[in-house]
Amino acid sequence: MAQLAPSILSADFSRLASEIRAVEQAGVGILHVDVMDGHFVPNITIGPPVIRSLRKTTPLTLDAHLMIENADSFIDAFVDAGADMISVHVEACRHLHRTITSIKARGRKAGVVLNPATPLDALEQILPEADYVLLMSVNPGWGGQQFIPHVKEKIAALRGMIRGRGATALIEVDGGVTRDNIAAVAAAGADIIVAGNAVFTGGDPRAAAAELIALLNSSRS
Ligand code: DX5
Ligand code: ZN
Repeated sequence: MAQLAPSILSADFSRLASEIRAVEQAGVGILHVDVMDGHFVPNITIGPPVIRSLRKTTPLTLDAHLMIENADSFIDAFVDAGADMISVHVEACRHLHRTITSIKARGRKAGVVLNPATPLDALEQILPEADYVLLMSVNPGWGGQQFIPHVKEKIAALRGMIRGRGATALIEVDGGVTRDNIAAVAAAGADIIVAGNAVFTGGDPRAAAAELIALLNSSRS
């Protein structure tokens, strides 16, 4: 059964604790935190100090998606702040194996992220080391963008690649997920599905998250 991971990027940052409480009450287990540096992506968001505060306010698994250059220099800071899962982009990591190894050495789950235009071939050598692969279904930088349709085939192809290689990596999908496409994304093979706009912009994040979880539940049966 796929799990929903709300992205706080679309939450009201002045009321983060209550926004998070709302999705906890909907039954969410993972919170997705988008970290942008204004270099790798053309936007700036938040960093370790906010994760440190989130760690104090929620027991949810904190999933840090690093859209940054020089990730190696910041892994310790994100681990120390309390991130449970840390993912890095293949497009931004010159020594990807070193970075993934350093995340795992600190006892955290390590994820490898692929932009929409990056082929699955980029995983060839790193797949056995990855705890999860995050497939971007929008170009990273902002919430509220449209899901790129052909990423569904990429999810299915990655599912086949993982099975064929006997790998254990989970598949996370991020960007443009709505109530209209979440079941199809799960059916394509996603294990963790991120949703920002669809959860936090309608005024009732608890109800929105509950609806998305219900769609995942019913798509299973
Ligand atoms: C995009 C981020 C996503 C984004 C998802 O750069 O990585 O996590 O916040 O937001 P929605 O669901 O609104 O596309
Ligand atoms: Zn993200």
